[in-house]
Amino acid sequence: MGLLSGDTLGPLAVAVLIFLLLLDLMHRRSRWAPRYPPGPTPLPVLGNLLQVDFDDPCPSFNQLRRRFGNVFSLQQGWTPVVVLNGLAAVREALVHRNQETSDRPPPAVYEHVGYGPRAEGVILARYGKAWREQRRFSLSTLRNFGLGKKSLEQWVTEEASCLCAAFADQAGRPFSPKDLLNKAVSNVIASLTFGFRFEYNDPRIIKLLDLMDDMLKEESGLVRQVVEAVPMLLRIPGLAAKVFPGLKAFMALIDELITEQKMTRDPTQPPRHLTDAFLDEMKEAKGNAESSFNDENLRLVVTDLFSAGMVTTSTTLAWALLLMILHPDVQRRVQQEIDEVIGKVRRPEMGDQAFMPFTVAVVHEVQRFSDIIPLGLPHMTTRDIEVQGFYVPKVLNVPAWVGVDRRAEQGWLCPPRAPGREARQTRTCLSAGARALRGGDDTHHQPVVSAEG
Ligand code: HEM
Repeated sequence: MGLLSGDTLGPLAVAVLIFLLLLDLMHRRSRWAPRYPPGPTPLPVLGNLLQVDFDDPCPSFNQLRRRFGNVFSLQQGWTPVVVLNGLAAVREALVHRNQETSDRPPPAVYEHVGYGPRAEGVILARYGKAWREQRRFSLSTLRNFGLGKKSLEQWVTEEASCLCAAFADQAGRPFSPKDLLNKAVSNVIASLTFGFRFEYNDPRIIKLLDLMDDMLKEESGLVRQVVEAVPMLLRIPGLAAKVFPGLKAFMALIDELITEQKMTRDPTQPPRHLTDAFLDEMKEAKGNAESSFNDENLRLVVTDLFSAGMVTTSTTLAWALLLMILHPDVQRRVQQEIDEVIGKVRRPEMGDQAFMPFTVAVVHEVQRFSDIIPLGLPHMTTRDIEVQGFYVPKVLNVPAWVGVDRRAEQGWLCPPRAPGREARQTRTCLSAGARALRGGDDTHHQPVVSAEG
C-alpha cells in the first residue's frame, strides 16, 4: 500500500497512459499505409465504437458512405474494419478475391459455449477444413433430404397448411403474424434437424422463440461489440455467461432436443433427420481427432441452422405480407398466377416455380427490398489485397454491405420486372462468394452475386 502513495501514483498514471497511447498507436498502424481506405478518426481505445449506432447501424453507415465513399474504414476498439458498399466493391472482394476474403474473424465470445478448433459450427467457422466439412454436410442434407419419411418440400407444404389454418382461426380479426411466422419457420428447421414439428401452443417452441429473441438482442447489442473489440475482457471469470445468458440458455434447450433424438435413435434404421446423419458421421469419424463431427460441433451446427434460418426467413415473409397489402395490384397478379398454375385443390410444389415467372420475380424483389441483413456477416482477409484501388491488409474484418443503399435509391420496383437479366440483377442483395449459398435447386439462399450475375 505504501508503494502507491500520492508521490508515486501520479507518475504511474502517466506511465499507464503513455503505455495505452503507444498500444493504441500500434493498433492504428494500418491507417498510415498508403491507399488505406479513408474513415472517421478513431478515439483512443474505443476507436469508432461510439460513432456507429450498432442497434440501428444503417443510417450511420449511410452517412459514412456519403462522406468517405464506397470503401471506407472503421476501427472497432482496436480491430480495424473495412466496409464495402455497393455491388462493384462487393463483387470484386467477395467473388473475384474469394480465396482471400472468405475467412471469418475468430468469435472469442463463443468460446464459453464450446466454440473451438474442431467445433466451429458453420456460420462462424474459420475458412478451412472444418468449415468445408460442415458446409458440405449441411448443404447436402438440405438438398438430398431423402432422410426419413418426408422430403423437406413435404415438411414445408404441410407447415404452410398449418400456418394458413392458424391465420384462418383469427377469423378476420386484426393480428400480428410475427409469432406464427416464427413458429412455422422454426418448425421447418426443427423437422430438418429433429424430424418433428411443435404444435403452435407447445411451451417448448414458445421458450425456443423467447430465447432466440434474447440471443439476437445480445448478438446485436453494444456489449457484444465491446467484448469483440476488446476480447481481453472475456478473461474475466464468468463474464461471458453473465453478459450472454440468452445464448447459453438457447444452447441448453438445443442440448435437450438433441439428447431426446439420441435416445430414440435406432442405429439399424436409416437416419431420420440431420441430427441422426450427424451422429452416423461421428461414428465413422471415431478415433479421428481431426474430424469436426463431434458432440460439441453437433450442438453448434444445429444452433447455427436455427439462428441463421429462423428470423431471416420469417422476417422476409412478414415483409412479403406487408408489401402485398401495400401493393394490391401485385397481390392480384400473384394470386392469378397461383390460381392458373396450381389451382385451389393441390398443394404447391417446387417444380411449379418454373411456370410462375411473375411470382418468382416478386419473391426476389421482396428479398432485395426487405434487405434484412444489411451489413451481411463479417468476412476476414487472409492476405493483403486491393479493392477498388484501396489497400486492404491481411487479417481485417471486411463487412460487405450492399443492400440498404439500393433500397434507398430505387424503392420497391413495382410491378417487379420480369425474370431475365433484370431480375437477376435484383437478386443481388444478400451476399456473394464462397460463403453465400447458391440459389436454384440446391439450397435455400436465392440472392447471390455471382461472377456472371
Ligand atoms: C431469407 C432468408 C435468409 C437470408 C436473408 C439469409 C442471409 C444470409 C447471409 C447474408 C449470410 C452471410 C453470407 C456471407 O457470409 O457472405 C448467410 C449465411 C448462412 N445462412 Fe442464410 N439466410 C437466409 C436463410 C437461411 C436458412 C433458411 C438457413 C438454413 C436453415 C440459412 C443458413 C445459413 C448458413 C449455414 C450460413 C453460413 C454459410 C457459411 O458461412 O458458409 N440461411 N445467410
